[in-house]
Amino acid sequence: DRLLKELQDLESRNPDLFDPNSPSQRVGGTVLNEFKTVNHEYRMLSLDNSYSKQDLQDFDKRLSKLTDYSFEYVCELKYDGVSISLVYENGELIRAATRGDGSQGDDVTDNIRTINSIPLKLKGDYPQRFEIRGEIFLPLDGFHKMNVIREKQGLELYSNPRNTASGSLKLLNTNEVANRPLDCYLYYLLGDQLPTSSHYDNLTKAKEWGFKIPNETAKCNSIIDVMEFIEKWEKDRETLPYEIDGVVIKVDNLQIQNEMGFTSKSPRWAIAYKFKAEQAITRIEKITYQVGRTGAITPVANLEPVQLAGTIVKRASLHNSDQMFRLGVYEGCKVYIEKGGDIIPKVVKVESVGNDLFSNVDFISTCPSCNSKLVRNTGDAKHYCPNSKDCLPQIKGRFEHFISRKAMNIDGLGSETIELLIRKGLISTLDDLYNLKKEDLMTLGKNVEKSTNNLLLAIDKSKQIPFDRVLYALGIRFVGETVANILAREYKSIDAIMNCQDLTNTDEIGDKIANSLADFFNDSDNLQLIENLKELGLNFIEEEGNLISESLKGARIVISGVFNHSRQEIKKLIEQHGGKNVNSISKKTTFVLAGDNMGPSKKQKAENLGVKIITEEEFLLKIR
Ligand code: IVH
Repeated sequence: DRLLKELQDLESRNPDLFDPNSPSQRVGGTVLNEFKTVNHEYRMLSLDNSYSKQDLQDFDKRLSKLTDYSFEYVCELKYDGVSISLVYENGELIRAATRGDGSQGDDVTDNIRTINSIPLKLKGDYPQRFEIRGEIFLPLDGFHKMNVIREKQGLELYSNPRNTASGSLKLLNTNEVANRPLDCYLYYLLGDQLPTSSHYDNLTKAKEWGFKIPNETAKCNSIIDVMEFIEKWEKDRETLPYEIDGVVIKVDNLQIQNEMGFTSKSPRWAIAYKFKAEQAITRIEKITYQVGRTGAITPVANLEPVQLAGTIVKRASLHNSDQMFRLGVYEGCKVYIEKGGDIIPKVVKVESVGNDLFSNVDFISTCPSCNSKLVRNTGDAKHYCPNSKDCLPQIKGRFEHFISRKAMNIDGLGSETIELLIRKGLISTLDDLYNLKKEDLMTLGKNVEKSTNNLLLAIDKSKQIPFDRVLYALGIRFVGETVANILAREYKSIDAIMNCQDLTNTDEIGDKIANSLADFFNDSDNLQLIENLKELGLNFIEEEGNLISESLKGARIVISGVFNHSRQEIKKLIEQHGGKNVNSISKKTTFVLAGDNMGPSKKQKAENLGVKIITEEEFLLKIR
């Protein structure tokens, strides 16, 4: 304490000595207005989940098919906290960011500096620049101590360690963060200069540099060993001083990881095994119905509040009418509930019919909001309200989707304000947002001038959002982020998509998506909306600006093996020259780009199909 005091005195007398990674920064002291948004260098993806031994066997089989080499697994605990990305340059922490939407997160560097177990300066032989990811969590002991203080102060208690850790990172006053006993385990290194090609060995090195690396991590030779690791920790999790919700299984060898690659959401080379969800018993007080933005009706069980896995649960989804009848739920019945994926609770079974008051509930036949007669198409699990034009929750849902971060990213328009704007008749179709005036927004009451100006700026700025996200923002059924991206890249403009005779010729576009698009474009109101949005200046054409050349135009390229460039770079080059990276070799493949150690089965397949195999050098010549 004395040394720290001396350091603080020295620093305050010599401002030019300021070092953001000085130990004095651990105690906080900065107050921010907001967090800066930062782009992740590597997307922060999530993990695929598994729940049974069978799922793990399937995972193991799937992976064996993706490589010709034998590989080992690394098993880690799955920490129940918030993920964090830390970037180090020349041995110093230069940036810490939250996951956000996976592509962009909040810059929380000042907050992270207050966490003692995160090194601000590294020791030993570390790479010049790298990223390390891990989990920020609140150890149980620290969490309970925080709540003892809250109780003494007569304040509402924090519900669980995970949400409290997550809330702590969002605090704008670093002093407050410094007072929270946060901790951090690191489990994933990224960069071009990692010391070894083994994930496990790299973690061991990271420990030498000063990171807190979990001791429980283990190397496993086979999926049987993995299962033993899981069984042990499912049994012993209570002995840990922090919460875990499963085990994470990763392929150890980085080159093999590279070969296996990623889907759009998660790495193929890793999977999470989720422990069985905790259950609780409670009573359904009432069954209500929610209308989604597409008109889909979801029955919801309103429950007698009950404590479950650290939070108080008041509502649980019943999904659809089939599920309701399968479960046999009715108002007043006792049910078991469980947290699916630990977020949205669901009703899993009726406890007993016993002497409960039996009031059988039929599924509703009309929309709870606008009274229209519901429809259910063959093959659909859900009932729908067909009144998309005038049904308030649908209109509201469309706006909420349109402005969301992954769509038009318009910040500052909450759900209540949207509803108010609709009710006042100021907005009804999406283009109305762009015609909102300052006076309109100021009349809503609690809006202050600054936030109104910011909102208008955000609305205007959204006109620069690229076409694929505009397409996603329109909220066409089954056109999620990935599908919108495929369509934008393939067709380049909304007009080309509209005029395409058969969209199912496109990779990954099946009948369901094609029909939904056709329905959307058959509606004259939607066509009018697109015209209006075009006129307002939104992007309905894919910018070709990023294309360096068209030398690979139309080429479908499979990459296999290890290259001088990173895989990420190779994929980027393919796209920048108009080509497309595809996963498996078929007759349609233009060529296979083969690095060192290309798998023999891939080679065989290419040869059998007469697909050309080229080297990295030949490839680089092609795109010169
Ligand atoms: S690896 C690309 N390892 O689980 C893979 N994640 O559902 C990156 N998590 O967002 C994640 N413990 O916040 C990894 N040992 C562990 C983990 C872990 C907890 C969290 C992490 C991630 C989420 C995925």
